Amino acid sequence: MSDFTGITAVVTGGAQGIGRAIADRLAADGADVVVGDLRDPTDLGPNQRWVHLDVTSEESVAALAAECGDAVGVLVNNAGIMFEASIADQTVEQWDTAMAVNLRGPWLMTKALLPRLTADGGAVVNIGSIEGIGSNPLHTAYSASKGGVHGLTAAMAVDLGPMGVRCNAVAPGWIDTALNREYIDRLPNRDQAVAELGRLHPVGHIGDPADVASVVAFLAGPDARFVSGQVVVVDGARTSKLSLPPSLSPEA
Ligand SMILES: NC(=O)c1ccc[n+]([C@@H]2O[C@H](COP(=O)([O-])OP(=O)(O)OC[C@H]3O[C@@H](n4cnc5c(N)ncnc54)[C@H](O)[C@@H]3O)[C@@H](O)[C@H]2O)c1
Repeated sequence: MSDFTGITAVVTGGAQGIGRAIADRLAADGADVVVGDLRDPTDLGPNQRWVHLDVTSEESVAALAAECGDAVGVLVNNAGIMFEASIADQTVEQWDTAMAVNLRGPWLMTKALLPRLTADGGAVVNIGSIEGIGSNPLHTAYSASKGGVHGLTAAMAVDLGPMGVRCNAVAPGWIDTALNREYIDRLPNRDQAVAELGRLHPVGHIGDPADVASVVAFLAGPDARFVSGQVVVVDGARTSKLSLPPSLSPEA
């Protein structure tokens, strides 16, 4: 556990899901957490406050930065969106929106908070995805944006390291958020899908938002002072497991 007492941490998209778990974890470890989100979560715990944020808007990002005091020790670029569409059906607007939220957002947030991050030897953690490494069907924009987040992480680590700012990314696999749960619950063969998802993961189950939050806390904290430019996969070894046809699989 890292001690973030006296440190301001900004978490984008922290109203729910993975971002909420990250905000809760950093607050539990002592940070003063600014939750930037389009939506007011209304039920934040102690050491946490919501500031309205649209990561696609320069004005909104600047307004949040102005709320953060002189120094920001931790920035977690978590806000992200996903949609499913074939490349034939996808619109330019959909593509641009995905890029604006998922890729330009982390860049814009880091740019706006840079003077405050350098003031305190800060750490940036971007939330990428295993879909920045591989892809599910119908995810051209999402996968491209998350691959971009991984590249951005390396580039920011190189450029900001001399200013005392470390930058890493976490690439989560299948995490049990409301979004995923609603999708699974809609399936006619829900129980079968849950069992098959478990078998997909060598650890035997999907991840919890807190599993991502604990890795973020490590990367943001002093125990990771020599770790920068890395993408840490948090997926229960799903991407380490090579697929086999059912006839060759010992699990069949
Ligand atoms: N859930 C998963 O399995 C999974 C896997 C890999 C990566 N991720 C990534 O983790 C991050 C969080 O995912 P989640 O499942 O918790 O998603 P979620 O949809 O539950 O939460 C996303 C949050 O971001 C906020 N948000 C969306 N657009 C915004 C904007 N323009 N400005 C500010 N806030 C905005 C939403 O209001 C919401 O609170 C995303 O970047 C996602 O791509 C999720």
